[in-house]
Amino acid sequence: MEIPITRPHLAGDEQEAVAEVIASGWISQGPRVRAFEEAFAARVGAADAVATTSCTTALSLALHVSGVGPGDEVIVPSLSFVATANAVWHCGARPVFADIDPRTYNLDPAAAERAITPRTKAIMPVHQVGLPADMDAFLALGQRHDLAIVEDAACAIGASYRDRPIGSLGPLACFSLHPRKVITTGEGGMIAVEDPEVAERLRRLRAHGMDTSDLARHSARDIVVEAYPERGWNSRMTDMQAALGLCQLRVLDEILERRCALAERYTVALEQIPHLQAPYDPPYAKRTWQSYCVRVGPHAPLERTELMRNLLQDGIATRRGVMAIHEEASYAPRQGGARIELPHTEAATRETLMLPLFPDLTEDQQDYVLERLEACMLALAA
Ligand SMILES: Cc1ncc(COP(=O)(O)O)c(C=O)c1O
Repeated sequence: MEIPITRPHLAGDEQEAVAEVIASGWISQGPRVRAFEEAFAARVGAADAVATTSCTTALSLALHVSGVGPGDEVIVPSLSFVATANAVWHCGARPVFADIDPRTYNLDPAAAERAITPRTKAIMPVHQVGLPADMDAFLALGQRHDLAIVEDAACAIGASYRDRPIGSLGPLACFSLHPRKVITTGEGGMIAVEDPEVAERLRRLRAHGMDTSDLARHSARDIVVEAYPERGWNSRMTDMQAALGLCQLRVLDEILERRCALAERYTVALEQIPHLQAPYDPPYAKRTWQSYCVRVGPHAPLERTELMRNLLQDGIATRRGVMAIHEEASYAPRQGGARIELPHTEAATRETLMLPLFPDLTEDQQDYVLERLEACMLALAA
């Protein structure tokens, strides 16, 4: 049996929706993007939402409108995809890595507070693999130290924190629409925005800083000469992507339900398998289960990568757990020479792996994954 790590769940009406956009002749950013933004904002409980080309560009734009620029520091978890740090770097600022809470794998607010310096401009909590970070603590920290809070919510559409959806909590939350995430537009990102004026500025910035959208200029009855009051990016989503996104939003609840049911099945079954630890599921959060992250205990008969290799030989694709950015050559030397130590991050990245989890994974396939996991652990323990 061959089991992939993930596969996007398409409802079936996407082809028609994208074909309609192509037939309309308006395939770049236009009315579908605006409709997708409105539907997305309503879904996550935000005042507004601004579509972008990716979560990475969303994060850079969100940091930029938060006043982050050259010479500033932004506190981020190292246990995250490298894009979290790259977005800071794209603004000319320096990512400062702080350790995680070893149970949730999310940035620890106390560690983040210890990392604050006079140069700190923002904190960027990540809702890692769709588990909300401790947002009450981060928002309070932001207020106490006058720092911006930008959420990396790449994997967190549909998640909630103390019954409030991610996207409705802080001023700016950035989502990813890459196929590895909960819903997809092929590539794409979205910024949930609290302040409508900031949303309008973001719309200008994502389109070269231009003060008039293509759509407004096209529908104007008179000549419109656009202006560029500030410098911007090209981070525009296309209407083809937005059409796909609108279809995906309609099946979001179905996707979340199925992911949750499969995750619960894994968790129950893992209790019977020695040395493997299911993810912690805190009572304050509803997570998306974008990934199912298992920890291999320190006394296990084989270590994480060897287990992944054995599973691959059985046709089961896995991925290592979340990377540690500060261990990569691209970031390690930038810490002023001294190697920083983040013990919880280093242990988590070394000892965890992601099991296959996606809405169309069948229970038979999942049982096969569990059977092979158990066989690996027991055969080697014997
Ligand atoms: C935590 C986190 N942040 C940011 C990103 C970047 O998302 P995108 O590929 O949409 O730029 C990812 C993607 O894997 C991610 O997992």
